[in-house]
Amino acid sequence: MQFDIITIFPELFDTFKTTSVIKHAINKQVITINIHNLRDYTDEKHNKVDDTSYGGGVGMILMAQPIINAVKSIQLPNKKCHVILLSPSTNFFNQEKAKKFEQNFDQIILICGRYEGVDERVKQTVVDETISIGEYVLTGGELASMVIVDTTSRMVKGFFEKDNVLENESYINGKYIEYPQYTKPEIVEEISVPKVLISGNHQEILKWKETNKIKYTN
Ligand SMILES: C[S@@+](CC[C@H](N)C(=O)[O-])C[C@H]1O[C@@H](n2cnc3c(N)ncnc32)[C@H](O)[C@@H]1O
Repeated sequence: MQFDIITIFPELFDTFKTTSVIKHAINKQVITINIHNLRDYTDEKHNKVDDTSYGGGVGMILMAQPIINAVKSIQLPNKKCHVILLSPSTNFFNQEKAKKFEQNFDQIILICGRYEGVDERVKQTVVDETISIGEYVLTGGELASMVIVDTTSRMVKGFFEKDNVLENESYINGKYIEYPQYTKPEIVEEISVPKVLISGNHQEILKWKETNKIKYTN
C-alpha cells in the first residue's frame, strides 16, 4: 500500500518514517510512505503556497493550484487511488475507515492543511473525502495524516510478523475494547495479576479474556 503525504513541513515525518514498526514495514516493502513538499509544486515566486483570505480573515490560506498540481502529479496511473483532505470537519476517522482504505485502495494521498486552512476549490477538484481525527483543531494536518497512515498500515497483510496480532484488538472484532493486559512482575504496588491468568488453564484464560473485554457503546 502506498501513502503520499502533501505538506509544507516534510521534516515532521522524519522520525515517524524511521521508527519502530512503521520503519520495518517500509523496509519489508509492505507499505511505502512518500512525503511531498508542497513548495515543489508551485509556479509562484519564492515558492509561495499561501495567500490572504478573500472576504478578509485573520490567517493565511493554502492556495489551491499547488495542491491540485501536486495531487495530479503524484496519482499513480491505473491504480485505485483515494485523495483525503485533512480537516476539522465532521467526517471522523475510525477503525472501520482504516479497514476500508486498506481493502479498497492501492494509494492514499493525504493533503495536510496549515494556517487557516485550504482553498475550497481543492475539495471541488481533486479530493475524494474530507476527514477529521477528532473534535478539536490542530495547527496542521500532519499529525492527523500520521494517525491515518499508522492505523491503516496496521491493517495491511505482512505489517506484523504474526498474522493473528489483530484478532483480539480493540475495535477489530465488533465494537469491543480489548481485555486488560498484565506483564511481570506478578505484584505491583500490592496489586496482583488476576489469578486465572497465571493458572495455566487455557480454557479459563480464554473465558476470562472474553468476559473482560468491554463493549464499546459510543
Ligand atoms: C488551524 S487548522 C485550520 C482550522 C480552521 N480555520 C477551522 O477553524 O476549521 C489548519 C489545518 O490543520 C488540519 N487540522 C486541524 N484540525 C484537524 C482535525 N481535527 N483533524 C484533521 N485535520 C485537522 C487541517 O488540515 C487544517 O486545514
